[in-house]
Amino acid sequence: MREDLMQRAKDTLLKNLYQVKLNGQNYQRTVPSKEFYVHQWNWDSATHAMGLVYFDERRAVDELLSLISGQWKNGLIAQITFNPNEEKYFPGPEFWGTEKFATGEILTSGITQPPLLGISLLHLYQTIKDIDLKKELVIKVLPAVIKYHEFLKNFRDPEDSGLLTVVHPWESGTDNSTRWDEPLANISLEDIPDAVKILVNKYRSDDKLGNSKHRPGLTDYYKYMYLVHLFSKWGWDNNKIVKESPFVVKDVLFNSLWCRANFALAELLEQEGRRDESATFLKMAQKTQKSLLDLWDDKSGLYTDLDVSNGKRIRIKENTVATFLPIWAGAYNKSILDSLIDRLKDPKQYWSAFPVPTTSLNNSKFELTRYWRGPTWPITNLFVIEGLGKLGPEYQALKMELLSRTFKMIEDNGFYEYFDPINGGARPDKRNTLSLGFGSFSWTSAIYIYLSNKYKET
Ligand code: DGY
Repeated sequence: MREDLMQRAKDTLLKNLYQVKLNGQNYQRTVPSKEFYVHQWNWDSATHAMGLVYFDERRAVDELLSLISGQWKNGLIAQITFNPNEEKYFPGPEFWGTEKFATGEILTSGITQPPLLGISLLHLYQTIKDIDLKKELVIKVLPAVIKYHEFLKNFRDPEDSGLLTVVHPWESGTDNSTRWDEPLANISLEDIPDAVKILVNKYRSDDKLGNSKHRPGLTDYYKYMYLVHLFSKWGWDNNKIVKESPFVVKDVLFNSLWCRANFALAELLEQEGRRDESATFLKMAQKTQKSLLDLWDDKSGLYTDLDVSNGKRIRIKENTVATFLPIWAGAYNKSILDSLIDRLKDPKQYWSAFPVPTTSLNNSKFELTRYWRGPTWPITNLFVIEGLGKLGPEYQALKMELLSRTFKMIEDNGFYEYFDPINGGARPDKRNTLSLGFGSFSWTSAIYIYLSNKYKET
């Protein structure tokens, strides 16, 4: 950890602060990056709070208060909470048809993102020193998170399998991962109305503000917006969506975080003396832990997502970083763990100079620069580091090595969205003109602060 970088991380988070008055109330939000992501994103914000809490407890709580401010009556905490004064991002509020679910002036998208919020809440609860702020968390944020978990349980796991269903690649957080190629093939381009394609052609902005070669492809965007169009047409009826969406997947990464988030709520409620509620969330976590084990595929040696559209149950055998997530959830046995650690340490797959690439280097679909199809992302590194941290002493050297390479990649380049797993570069410096992702990125900054503080004693 370097002090100058720590200061720069804080400055980036300060620069990305967005204050807005809605429904007569002031909100403080941190946008992921002013270059493109100018609203508030769900799992980004949960991460921002985990870093903010080390230097501004008030702002960390405000970040979560602002994140829950647009919660729907049914409990949904959306992927995006919009800033009404911003237009840079596509698809903005006018493309979702979610107005009737808005909390007064607070408009959101209609899908969610990986449920990191409960994990962030527990971290704040355990870290905050100010007693009144801690009370505020319990009184205001905890009930919203409980309601959000009830939404996920009721609408995304109606069959009570322990595994939540993800209905849009944007919900998975890892938008264009190679894991979604197969399930997205369920949607044929001919099914997509021309009006949707015209909209994308006209308004898509990520490929203009960023490097189009590094962003998801055009076909992907047609499909992303087709799903939004369908759900909006169905009035955001979540029962219908989970039954009829052409993209319905049991996602390993999403469910590993769901498992951890339920453990987190159980722990917080236990500490608050709310034993019965704690037991409920503990049971949910344990159920998911068991169900995650069923996603293990011995043949491929991978945790596999399941395509469950139209009554199918197809294992998606893609070698990506998601396969390491169940370690954090504690969903493994000894032989699975051994094989996962061998895979992680293999330089032909994941142990490049700057691990952990989001897709295995020897996966034929690996792309060095394209968003979630190759680059190393600090957020997925955080998940792997936390997973290793929960293992025995023999794994701690590996954890520390990954931690130090993650720091180096950020220290050498700055707070970019993601990095080149081979040379650690981002952009835009003389050494490297790849331009990886957007710059002055909040969660890279927050992760730097979080990891530096959490692991400074080890
Ligand atoms: C985007 O638009 O790139 C986001 O990842 C969606 O959440």
